[in-house]
Amino acid sequence: MREYKIAVLPGDGIGPEVTREAVKVLERIAEMDSSFRFKTKNFNWNSEYYLEHGKMMPEDGLEQLKEFDAILFGAIGDPRVPDPVSIWELILPIRKNFQQFINFRPVKLLQGLESTLKKEVPIDFVIVRENSEGEYTESGGAMFHGETREMALQNMVMTRQGVEQIARFAYDYARANGREKVTNATKSNVMLHTMTFWDRLVEEVAAENKDIDYERYYIDALAAYFVQRPETFDVVLASNLFGDILSDLGSAIVGGLGLAPSGNINPLGEFPSMFEAVHGSAPDIAGKGIANPIAQIWSAALMLEHLGRKDLHDLVLQAIEEVLVEKKVLTPDIGGNATTADVGDAISDKLERIG
Ligand code: NAI
Ligand code: MG
Repeated sequence: MREYKIAVLPGDGIGPEVTREAVKVLERIAEMDSSFRFKTKNFNWNSEYYLEHGKMMPEDGLEQLKEFDAILFGAIGDPRVPDPVSIWELILPIRKNFQQFINFRPVKLLQGLESTLKKEVPIDFVIVRENSEGEYTESGGAMFHGETREMALQNMVMTRQGVEQIARFAYDYARANGREKVTNATKSNVMLHTMTFWDRLVEEVAAENKDIDYERYYIDALAAYFVQRPETFDVVLASNLFGDILSDLGSAIVGGLGLAPSGNINPLGEFPSMFEAVHGSAPDIAGKGIANPIAQIWSAALMLEHLGRKDLHDLVLQAIEEVLVEKKVLTPDIGGNATTADVGDAISDKLERIG
């Protein structure tokens, strides 16, 4: 029997609430299929841990996580801890050290849901976001604090290896999944050094992959097209910052953050990949038991796909869609009055019926 070792980091706020439901679904799937099982281990590295220990994870935290097949991450963020601390000391070290240079975010209008855009078009594309460099780096500094000449510098870093590997992933993914087009999100009209470099390398990779269509838009226009004609996109390739913003916009047009999953992927498999809902810890609704767990359950499904079980990913997505179509068990963010646990139960029960 194959055993998958999964590190579970529930985090803060609604993170633990939605992660519990995702683990519930994984356990139900493992019960149904005797060919494998999950061995999960919980890690309490969150803001509470920080307040107690003065750091977000132990010194050997990454060492401990390294041996797992994958990581299921909830969300981090607590009003008592500055956001840059929780992000730079927990999420980013995992993404960077484990070379999870791909942030993979499906934008798909599921059956049973209506787009917030008032039109009926199929929306089904993925955002492939560079996840390890670009606009999000530690490079920079600040000087003359409090003086009139106070200043801050934040550098953007693009490397040939970083750009080429994300561009290649976009094309490989497109080909493997019957996608026909890659859209490059850029701003090379203004960002003369980094974004022209990005375009040049992306277009070298595009030239090696002529069977797949290529187009390029400036990020501002592209944001408008997401709203005006989302049905025309297939694979959207973006830098770290652009991809971050585009994916929240993408989630907004297909039902909101409660439905947006993501994977931080190390495609070479030298380190575990990490799967997490796009949303944060949602302090405004934490503790009320009303968070939508679908984003996190879908993220767990992406994890199953990454572990080589696309069949199980598809099964979970089908169960989610059936629950959405019935409209009986929905959380308040999508118009229902069910609890987080009700939705997790409904999806688990559906799995058993269709599995
Ligand atoms: P957020 O995603 O936590 O919340 C934005 C809005 O969406 C809130 O009104 C929230 O109630 C709603 N929402 C989010 N997830 C939902 C769900 N599953 N079901 C129903 N409603 C949901 O973003 P915000 O408020 O900007 O950040 C809150 C904290 O989360 C901050 O500390 C931030 O740094 C952190 N954060 C952490 C992330 C992570 O762990 N990867 C990602 C984004 C934010
Ligand atoms: Mg974000």
